[in-house]
Amino acid sequence: MVFHVLTLFPEMIRNGCDNSILKRAMANGLIEVHPVDIRQFTQDRHGKVDDYPYGGGAGMLMQAQPVFDAWRSLQDAEGVKKPVRTVYVTPQGKPFTQSLAQELSEEEELILLCGHYEGIDERVLEEVVTDRVSIGDYVLTGGELPAMVMIDAVSRLIPGVLNNEESAETESFDNDLLEYPQYSRPEEWHGRRVPEELLSGDHKRIRNWRLERAKERTREFRPDLYEKYAARQEIAEILLGHKKENAYMIDNLQRGVAEILYTAGDQVIASNPGAGVIELCCDSTEAGRELLAHLPEDWHLILHNFEPLNEILTKEYGMEVHASCYQSVYTQRVSLPVAHKDIRRFPMEALPYAVENYENGDENYLRQRIQKGELFAAYVDGEIAGFAGMHDDGSLGILYVDPKFRRLKLGSSLASYLVNKALERGGIPYAHIRENNIASLKMQEKMGLYTGAKKVFWLCRGKSGQMK
Ligand code: ADE
Repeated sequence: MVFHVLTLFPEMIRNGCDNSILKRAMANGLIEVHPVDIRQFTQDRHGKVDDYPYGGGAGMLMQAQPVFDAWRSLQDAEGVKKPVRTVYVTPQGKPFTQSLAQELSEEEELILLCGHYEGIDERVLEEVVTDRVSIGDYVLTGGELPAMVMIDAVSRLIPGVLNNEESAETESFDNDLLEYPQYSRPEEWHGRRVPEELLSGDHKRIRNWRLERAKERTREFRPDLYEKYAARQEIAEILLGHKKENAYMIDNLQRGVAEILYTAGDQVIASNPGAGVIELCCDSTEAGRELLAHLPEDWHLILHNFEPLNEILTKEYGMEVHASCYQSVYTQRVSLPVAHKDIRRFPMEALPYAVENYENGDENYLRQRIQKGELFAAYVDGEIAGFAGMHDDGSLGILYVDPKFRRLKLGSSLASYLVNKALERGGIPYAHIRENNIASLKMQEKMGLYTGAKKVFWLCRGKSGQMK
């Protein structure tokens, strides 16, 4: 990923990024950081880039011309794809959060614009800026430190930047909870012992202990986050009454990847922005209409579990039913045995193999799955013999086994492997299986998954987004 930083202080950016993990990531070609000196673009003979604000007031403003020309030099440069997302770092922006860092990490190029003095002439901001982002409710002397904060937070989400991929997965702000306390050797220090649960070797006990401490901390230090977390868990708890029918919503709420938009008892509408999908759970037309009245502005993909809604959505909302699926759900908490041992993260070099063999092999979607570490390969004698992965809503799927290897039970091994991954993340393992795919449904049932009594429906409007 390439960061271009428009700044009056390029050295500050250069020095700030030339250490530790960012330095290594640059050396390994995973990120590039290019400071662009705005002063180089001024048309003023004395190198001036600022002037007094019209209407009076304290301080100076950066003028439009040098900022615009510096920005345009990037747009015109070879190799920069246009248009590039341009983020103005400013205390007047939306808050920089972990989910925004995640979203930005999916860009190939990013321009960060750093202000100085009292800010920048609004007219150039209107022309070039796509996002205004603040790193917190305080005012710094310039945008360079916030730009570096963003580069750091975004870079560590890029695959390969951190040595241990795991460490980017479980961390503070996962599911709106702060991270639990951590301990290393020795077992006793200054008379303080490491909590007994962490020494027990019992994974379930350890998981529970960590969750409880994370909840305690969040309640104490970030009651705002805790409220969001608790609201989701409360609804998920209600929906558990019909676990097999509501699995997708319960899973997404429990894992914190969906935000509730509206609820009335167990009738819920939520948004999963990572998957670009609006999810509904309801069991009457009246409730369905009530939920649809709370649709956000921009949506194109809906997932729901109440068949009569299809008529409303197609006739009144211009949607098309893209898939009618059975929902196959693993209702227990114990992991499944995985017969085939050699299952690993799918390597990016093998993307063409996945595109060729997966029936809905959309290259961009598969590339994104691989990048996020959501696709897994089963190897036989060092060769990829099949693969399976999580879709962006969290459902299990993308299953393929090479016909040469069909006797080795790779399909069920890959599926069990995914079930265990979903359990580790604290959600419910579920799969959406097209109604005519009886073979797949049978395999899931044999593995111990249950099929919900109600089908689920994927509907799209306009651009189709994720399509299974
Ligand atoms: N520039 C000055 N203060 C800032 C802040 N808090 N966030 C982003 N940019 C800034």
